[in-house]
Amino acid sequence: MEVKTSLLDNMIGVGDMVLLEPLSEETFIENLHKRFEHNEIYTYIGSVVISMNPYKSLPIFTADKVEEYRNRNFYELSPHIYALADEAYRSLRDQDKDQCILITGESGAGKTEASKLVMSYVAAVCGKGQEVNKVKEQLLQSNPVLEAFGNAKTVRNDNSSRFGKYMDIEFDFKGDPLGGVISNYLLEKSRVVKQPRGERNFHVFYQLLSGASEDTLKKLKLDRDFSKYNYLSLDSATVNGLDDAANFRTVRNAMQIVGFMEDEVQSVLELVAAVLKLGNIEFKPESRVNGFDESRVKDKNDLKEMCELLGIEQSVLERAFSFRTVEAKMEKVSTTLNVAQAYYARDALAKNIYSRMFSWLVTRINESIKAQTKSRKKVMGVLDIYGFEIFEDNSFEQFIINYCNEKLQQIFIELTLREEQEEYVREGIEWTNIEYFNNAIICDLIENNQNGILAMLDEECLRPGTVTDETFLDKLNTVCAEHQHFESRLSKNSKFLTDHSLPHNCFRIQHYAGKVLYRVEGFVDKNNDLLYRDLSQAMYKANHSLMKLLFPEGNPAKVNLKRPPTAGFQFRASVGTLMKNLLTKNPNYIRCIKPNDKKAAQVFTDSLVCHQVRYLGLMENVRVRRAGYAFRQPYEPCLERYKMLCKQTWPHWKGPAREGVEVLLKDLEVPEDEFSYGRSKIFIRNPRTLFFLEERRRQCLEDLATLIQKIYRGWKCRTHFLLLKKSQVVVAAWYRRYAQQRKYQKIKSSSIVVQSFIRGWKVGLKLMQKYFLGLKNTMPSMSPIDKSWPARPYLFLEGTHQELRKIFHLWRCKKYRSQFTEEKKAIYEEKLEASEIFKGKKALYPSSVGQPFKGDYLEINKNPKYQKLNSVVDEKVLLADVVNKINRANGKGASRIFLLTKKNFVLADQKTGQVKASVPLPDLSSVSVSTQNDGFFALKLKEGTPSAAKGDFLLSSDRLIEIITKLHRTGAASAEREQISVDISDEFLVQFKQDKVCVKFIQAGPKNGNSVTCKRKNNRLLEVSVPSP
Ligand SMILES: Nc1ncnc2c1ncn2[C@@H]1O[C@H](COP(=O)(O)OP(=O)(O)OP(=O)(O)O)[C@@H](O)[C@H]1O
Ligand SMILES: [Mg+2]
Repeated sequence: MEVKTSLLDNMIGVGDMVLLEPLSEETFIENLHKRFEHNEIYTYIGSVVISMNPYKSLPIFTADKVEEYRNRNFYELSPHIYALADEAYRSLRDQDKDQCILITGESGAGKTEASKLVMSYVAAVCGKGQEVNKVKEQLLQSNPVLEAFGNAKTVRNDNSSRFGKYMDIEFDFKGDPLGGVISNYLLEKSRVVKQPRGERNFHVFYQLLSGASEDTLKKLKLDRDFSKYNYLSLDSATVNGLDDAANFRTVRNAMQIVGFMEDEVQSVLELVAAVLKLGNIEFKPESRVNGFDESRVKDKNDLKEMCELLGIEQSVLERAFSFRTVEAKMEKVSTTLNVAQAYYARDALAKNIYSRMFSWLVTRINESIKAQTKSRKKVMGVLDIYGFEIFEDNSFEQFIINYCNEKLQQIFIELTLREEQEEYVREGIEWTNIEYFNNAIICDLIENNQNGILAMLDEECLRPGTVTDETFLDKLNTVCAEHQHFESRLSKNSKFLTDHSLPHNCFRIQHYAGKVLYRVEGFVDKNNDLLYRDLSQAMYKANHSLMKLLFPEGNPAKVNLKRPPTAGFQFRASVGTLMKNLLTKNPNYIRCIKPNDKKAAQVFTDSLVCHQVRYLGLMENVRVRRAGYAFRQPYEPCLERYKMLCKQTWPHWKGPAREGVEVLLKDLEVPEDEFSYGRSKIFIRNPRTLFFLEERRRQCLEDLATLIQKIYRGWKCRTHFLLLKKSQVVVAAWYRRYAQQRKYQKIKSSSIVVQSFIRGWKVGLKLMQKYFLGLKNTMPSMSPIDKSWPARPYLFLEGTHQELRKIFHLWRCKKYRSQFTEEKKAIYEEKLEASEIFKGKKALYPSSVGQPFKGDYLEINKNPKYQKLNSVVDEKVLLADVVNKINRANGKGASRIFLLTKKNFVLADQKTGQVKASVPLPDLSSVSVSTQNDGFFALKLKEGTPSAAKGDFLLSSDRLIEIITKLHRTGAASAEREQISVDISDEFLVQFKQDKVCVKFIQAGPKNGNSVTCKRKNNRLLEVSVPSP
């Protein structure tokens, strides 16, 4: 946002003198002083800038400052020369009004510096680009060149401009610089040959001698020592703070940038050297026969060197210093020159060479910087003319210079007043006339065609007969005596007859800026500006192109007998042209003031400033500006600045600005005679009213600042809160989205699982159906020993498949069992019991499985052989078979019939059938068998029973399994008895009568064959070797 500021903000004193209250010379000076002390060197009088020379560098000319002032309104920021430059440049660019910047003030007041600041500001803000930058650089670099040749140290200013300069900078329609034209006004050429005490010749002489290389000096036949040259003032040859050598380099560089060719620079330096040489040429008188003295060159060395330098024939020049040819009506008369005339001729030549060279430099620079286009240009003129000056000894030059300043003052008065008047008319406000000193009368004294001083001088110069400076003064004394600004001792005006401050050979003019005493000596000569034709012809003959060019009148083919116009005439004409030119442009004024005479910073001499303020007419300027109304401002910025002072206009006024201002002033109860409404501006009569408004504004701004702070803080908190809220909504939305997404994904994956389960289940159902139907067709046989079972079609049916197999098998077994008869059932029960007792415990068992348990193998009741036996046994025979009874003595077996009934078992002789032993089953305690594939078994009897008297039985039978099973069953069947236990072990004890013998089963080696053998090993051990399976 653009910050609206005003000149009125942070003001030291008052920034615009128009607002000074009360207005008097003292307050005016005091205000300048106060601002000067605070380094505020610029102050306005309306649109005029007063510039105090600070005599020190201030940090207010930086690139940042340029930016600050760029495109800002004039009264927006504190007073600055940049504000004026910006205003001028913008109205040139935007409103197509040609501008001129008029910089006035006395010598040393800072005009040249100001003109450079304006130029550099414009260069900084106008267009950019390679071509444009080159133009800008050339324009800016023309300054050091012209300053070197046209400026000199004077008692007033170490860098005093000794010529007037007006530079037109030309712009295209966009405001880009195209080029420029420099006009120069009357160089103070007398300085070349003579300088007042404490002053120097033009800078370039010192710069050349200090800064040129040895080689260059040698080429120019120069010596570095200033004291070798008559034309250089010696008492102030070096100036504090001026580095001539460094400046020489700057100038050479600037010349190069401006576009001087190397040989052109060389030629210029040769002319400078020639002038120095010329100054050293001295003359001596030589008596002639006719009694007159004729001048002769004293020491020809300098002459010789100068002629060599310029390519002039030495004799020609030498002659020109001794003779003078006067041509009249086709007749040539040659007269001799005396020594004084020779010196005069020498100095005239030096001055002419130098001043013509200076004019050539300006022309040459113009050639370089001239705009390359013929299209219409907008122009900004910058005028930096030598300031008004009063020396101890004032001559023709000062007269001319002061005349020029007089003219500028005139134009200033005319334009400011005219402008002011025009503004009032434009705004429809009544114009009140005000008193001011108009210096037109002084201008008239000098330039009037009939009886002006310059006209008188010309008249004298052109008059036949003896003409001297005194005759000129006499003329003035008669013609101008009555003029109120002319003073002379011998004038008819007896007022000055006794004025001893006014010498006889002088006249005094009361200039607008003070009285100046002019010594008439030299006026005629300087006005004539005569150079003997012999000299100009000698110069023309020079073998030096630049020199030739500078003296065209020396061309014998173009002898012009007409007198050239006088210097005064020329100057008056050029000033006239300049004034006309300035009048067509929009003027912008910079009024420079010198704070002290010591060139010192921080020193403010009231009397000196007061003098300048007076003659510059600044007080009158303020008065004119305040005539009627002290302050004016367009309605819009006025309303913008003060709108906060009234409720109706704050914060926005909807209607036209003028009405807003009316409402505002009414509301503030400003007395009606304090202001007037113009067409586009409000005019405020008294600065007091303005300051009242300013004060109210300041108070109001404080309140507004608090309000703004309050609103800002509120706004900041609210924005923060809204941001938080918005963020919360966003976060919540995202979270909800995220949660819903997760939930959805969970549901989705669950439903996929359920779906797949259902699908799987459906498929499984089908598969099961298929499986069961398939199984039905591939069922194995009903035989319980059939191990086959169809292959499992699906992995997932593994459990079912096995379960079905088990169920089917059980069912098949049950079916199978249900077919059994009671006997078969008993047989199977026996078989089952055998399995329970022996399966996995005795190696013989598997071979018994397939054998049917017949029980009665001997069929004793049928066999008559066993009749006897049969009679002994009254019970049903459960088992009858032949077994081997093992002899305890040798381990050999003897066949016996073994009978088993429900109650007992009987051993009987196989042949006879004679019962050898009958043992009731309750006496049998246990049966021992081996684990191996043998048929040995021991029937152990209970100790203490009658049967036990003979000891236990060790028997062997192939049907061991059946025998023992049946024994076991029989025992099991009777309720009153314990079951017979079956011990299965490869070592057991058998009770033979008194002894216990251990029966041990061992695996037989291969040599024993396939039969089981039993051997008695010792009294206590029977060893049964059983073939390995
Ligand atoms: N704005 C400034 N800042 C710093 N120094 C300044 C400023 N203006 C002027 N000066 C100093 O004052 C001196 C004289 O200024 P300047 O040459 O501009 O005077 P002038 O008015 O042109 O004088 P003259 O009429 O003799 O040519 C400068 O050399 C410089 O030292
Ligand atoms: Mg100057």
